[in-house]
Amino acid sequence: MKHKLEVDYNAARGFLADREVNDAFAKSIKALEVLEGREGRGNEFLGWLDLPSETDETLLSRIEGVARRWQNGIDVVVIIGIGGSYLGSKAALDALTHHFDLYLEKSSSPKIVFAGQNLSEDYLSELMELLSAKSAAAVVISKSGTTIEPAVAFRIIKQHFEEKYGKEESARRIVAVTDESRGALRKLSEMEGYETFIIPDNVGGRFSVLTPVGLIPVAVAGYDIRAMLEGARDMQKRSSEHSENNPAVAYAAIRNALYSSGKKIEIIVNYNPKLQYVAEWWKQLYGESEGKENKGIFPASVNFTSDLHSMGQYIQEGERHIFETVISVEKPNRSLSIANDPKNLDGLNFLSGKSIDECNKMAELGTRIAHVDGGVPNMRIILPEINEYNIGSLFYFFEKACGISAYMLDVNPFDQPGVEDYKVNMFALLGKPGFEEKAKELRARSL
Ligand code: PA5
Repeated sequence: MKHKLEVDYNAARGFLADREVNDAFAKSIKALEVLEGREGRGNEFLGWLDLPSETDETLLSRIEGVARRWQNGIDVVVIIGIGGSYLGSKAALDALTHHFDLYLEKSSSPKIVFAGQNLSEDYLSELMELLSAKSAAAVVISKSGTTIEPAVAFRIIKQHFEEKYGKEESARRIVAVTDESRGALRKLSEMEGYETFIIPDNVGGRFSVLTPVGLIPVAVAGYDIRAMLEGARDMQKRSSEHSENNPAVAYAAIRNALYSSGKKIEIIVNYNPKLQYVAEWWKQLYGESEGKENKGIFPASVNFTSDLHSMGQYIQEGERHIFETVISVEKPNRSLSIANDPKNLDGLNFLSGKSIDECNKMAELGTRIAHVDGGVPNMRIILPEINEYNIGSLFYFFEKACGISAYMLDVNPFDQPGVEDYKVNMFALLGKPGFEEKAKELRARSL
């Protein structure tokens, strides 16, 4: 049996009365029943619950086939997408990839870069410079097929490919991930003859990391998607237990109890820079799922120890409306110790023989104690180590806890009505047909 992800909430317990904790656990287990009974709000979007156990061999083989095909002759693969169509694969790849991979020739797999997650002219121009110099392929991911950021990036990249490689070869270098039947990307892909993968109708963008949305980029980069799904599958079982031992139940219960007690902001903390984008993915998952109807914990994140030198002061002594959830990695994948220096000019010989990780762990423990003393409740999500299995497990854990947590708050976790407002304004201001009235109204206003 593998050593597993655990939730430790001892350092939050002291901020809550026993009654608050007991009530929160009872509510959390009830919310789990509603989620798994598929009787809550937004229940048409619960396909993600079964992805780990139901992803079949045919799909996995097709995905691995794309990865194999691009292992020879392709230097760079551009993953084009935004929000839920980008953050999960970015999180997984940052976690799994050598920090300096772009400067090393370590693996036979192509290097991965991202596009379509911003509208920066500089970013796209610089990316095109890279693509001109390299042999490239692209995965374009958009469930709706109409999101402007990835659509714009894809139009530019597609034109570049067609000029450089010709139409037929471009079609071999482009894979699309989109809705089964709707949207411009589906139609375009069929017309151009791209290989396509489906984002199931019943899986929303931010819950789609274990569909081809996340699996293709991870496989193309050379990582083991079967191990990732195995981790998710084990968590699928564990997080179905109707008990306080269920890590998703515990996390949802304690964060909601803290929220009810006035802690309105949750900061995800990591001590390993490889997890920075796990926090970005988590922010979207929780922010879009819970932040509605004037409710919801505000999701924030920091990278320690770096941000102890910028955000540490506020967390220690600022307004007391925050709690922290540390993603704590038990074992690093590599080892490096601090050597003795006979002259000890830097005065650091008290660290001689210690590993860098031991210093990191003591920074973590010392900071947690200081923050708890400063009035900041603290939870830990303990990951045994960073690998495909544990990242899969972590993804599913956070998704399940998110569904439970949003039902505890009594909001629909699976819609995002607030995201539409900016899009309508942007389309109107850019002159999209059908938005003429809105454009007049906006132009008459000044900010
Ligand atoms: O969670 C969501 O639904 C959103 O973040 C979407 O993933 C994001 O807006 C991208 O949408 P699409 O995949 O349709 O381009």
